[in-house]
Amino acid sequence: MRGGNPLLGTIRVSGAKNAALPAMAAALLTEEPVILENIPQVQDIETTRKLLAAMGAEVELGYGRAHHRTTLCCRDLIAPEASYELVKTMRASTLVLGPLVARMGRARVSLPGGCAIGARPIDLHIKGLEKLGATIEQEHGYVLAHAKRLRGGEIFFDKITVTGTEDLLMAACLAEGETLMHNCAREPEVADLAALLNKMGAKIEGAGTATIRIQGVEKLHGARHRIIPDRIEAGTFIIAAVLTGGDLNVAGCEPRHLQALLQKLEDVGVKLMPAVDAVRVIGNGELKASDIITEEYPGFPTDMQAQYMALATQASGSSVITENIFENRFMHAQELVRMGADIKVEGRRAIVRGKTPLSAAAVQASDLRASASLVLAALVADGETIIDRVYHIDRGYERIEEKLRGVGAQMRRIGQLFPKRAAATVATV
Ligand code: EPZ
Repeated sequence: MRGGNPLLGTIRVSGAKNAALPAMAAALLTEEPVILENIPQVQDIETTRKLLAAMGAEVELGYGRAHHRTTLCCRDLIAPEASYELVKTMRASTLVLGPLVARMGRARVSLPGGCAIGARPIDLHIKGLEKLGATIEQEHGYVLAHAKRLRGGEIFFDKITVTGTEDLLMAACLAEGETLMHNCAREPEVADLAALLNKMGAKIEGAGTATIRIQGVEKLHGARHRIIPDRIEAGTFIIAAVLTGGDLNVAGCEPRHLQALLQKLEDVGVKLMPAVDAVRVIGNGELKASDIITEEYPGFPTDMQAQYMALATQASGSSVITENIFENRFMHAQELVRMGADIKVEGRRAIVRGKTPLSAAAVQASDLRASASLVLAALVADGETIIDRVYHIDRGYERIEEKLRGVGAQMRRIGQLFPKRAAATVATV
């Protein structure tokens, strides 16, 4: 990448990876076809396709210009399993646990293990399933769950967990009787999953709030659903426009899913013009430092923390960044320091002193959002930056170099997209 060009024009946002993944898992709950539109062309979707196909599901995935669609048919499931080989590359594979127990009465899912940004336990998923009557054992790194038929119950999440809420929401749909879940995640992706499940015949109220009520039903049927736009991809492009002093229309997004970020950028001095399904960003002013604390939705999203850190290096003053969700999500900091940033990490806090000019360097991506922050820094760095291990970015950003080049970035990929990886695993996120 070569920095210095302002981003100008319109860039389109793809469907949300973190809404598409649970939606694909939801297809396990019915033997009828489920059609999902606006699916992003990213590696994690391909991994999920492989995971479901290994169970016996038929999964078509098409990325024609006109549509990004997948049709899933889980009529003949032969093996309710998620192998370690797949789960270690994508911990969101644990989203099949609840649907498999609910539909098949049993599941054998590898424990995800840790990943680059933290320990990533699934104890809350397991406790919730036990509350719904599942018997759970753990052996050889796998969770073995079974239940003749799940029965409704009351679940209090000790911590707010996005995929934990989604896993149990799907399981409760086919449980006998009513389930009440408290302290649920309120992310838009949870509400989008509930919208799909209700189209499939589920009876869910309160998704998107902290308390969700589900009346179990005997069966679910097929449905067609359009995935919501990716708010994190949109936020990443908005920050790219600010950093490069561009004038960018980020189209096909939901500004109301980005309130915390947009408010923060206003504090920093950015000129934003949100429309119904787009945000126009004019990045031509001085940036003022401002602190962030990552929190569950609707607070400032942890998935935007790394991108904000890149922005903070160009703001005048000190920005204190507190990461409350994951215990090890500052790996991008040292790479940014190598490009000239002034960042001190102390436990869950990082202090960024700006404004420091960034100079191009050879840097290494470590996880999905850390790689995004390196791309952002490279857009303003003086000289040519080489980012290694960009397979991390391909997990969650569709054709990122094409999209950014389309609005003026100087960027090209060395090597091919989705290279057939050797045994070496990809760090999970
Ligand atoms: C989801 O991960 C997202 N992934 C993550 O996005 C996102 O960073 C995260 O939510 C937080 O918003 C998907 O939706 C596929 P959590 P998830 O369970 O569900 C602890 C990206 O970049 N916890 O909400 O795995 C956990 O350790 C990815 O797209 C338990 O202790 O996150 C963490 O500290 C990265 N026990 C906190 O809760 C559990 O059983 C929040 O985790 C579950 C979670």
